[in-house]
Amino acid sequence: MTERIEGHRGERARLYDALLTAEREDVEFYVDLARRADGPVLEAACGTGRIYLELLAAGVDADGFDRSRDMLEILRESAAERGLEPSVWQADLTDVGADRRYALVTCPFNTVMHLGSIDEQLAALRSIYDALAPGGRFVFDVFVPSFEVICEEYGTWQTESVETDGESYEVRTHTQVLDELEGRILVETECYDADGSLVFASEDRLSLLPKRHLELLARCSPFDSWSATGDFSDEPLSADHSIQVWSLRRADDA
Ligand SMILES: C[S@@+](CC[C@H](N)C(=O)[O-])C[C@H]1O[C@@H](n2cnc3c(N)ncnc32)[C@H](O)[C@@H]1O
Repeated sequence: MTERIEGHRGERARLYDALLTAEREDVEFYVDLARRADGPVLEAACGTGRIYLELLAAGVDADGFDRSRDMLEILRESAAERGLEPSVWQADLTDVGADRRYALVTCPFNTVMHLGSIDEQLAALRSIYDALAPGGRFVFDVFVPSFEVICEEYGTWQTESVETDGESYEVRTHTQVLDELEGRILVETECYDADGSLVFASEDRLSLLPKRHLELLARCSPFDSWSATGDFSDEPLSADHSIQVWSLRRADDA
């Protein structure tokens, strides 16, 4: 999980979402997917509601959960500001605890990488499978662990200038390999405003997830079929893509 996010809370949450996801095309992708779902939708690990609140705003019958009480509190505050009524609870990916069955469960933005062990990864797949109605789908995205990026960028601070609401910010990211054998990394992120003051800082410990590892997890899970596309397009996943989008399906009669 995001172990540490510092800074003034409301501002921090807004900037955290805006700055860390500036280049991503995932909101439109997941809203479109949810709109086309033939039944209720669940966002697993919905965080501050960056995507979840857009599902509600689009009129989708959507629930969400996250293991962080703080993230859910921020989500509820943002929902209240927008006049939206969220249905969210605190739970772990390995124990969803849903009391209805969904046509679609989503888990956006590298969150499956937060699961530390194979046991946890399989437990999460089983728990999400159980939350799906027959014929339902689990869709998630994680980045492709590119050797080029690991060699060139890991171990040194990467700095990026990002603008939001007419203000300039500097986002600094440092990724280091924590455990080469297990493919565990630590991602530290710091964001500074134009005056050089720290707006927020966060730390995440993640598992690298190559395509083959995800395919083996799918094979060991109760899901019946699966496919992977790249970069939120319809193209089958290839070496040209930087984001893997996986779709795992529960059989119609399961
Ligand atoms: C990168 S954020 C993504 C949030 C949201 N889905 C989005 O796209 O903006 C990752 C979220 O996963 C949550 N998380 C991490 N591990 C989790 C777990 N095992 N169970 C439930 N939530 C988890 C964190 O608390 C955090 O809110």
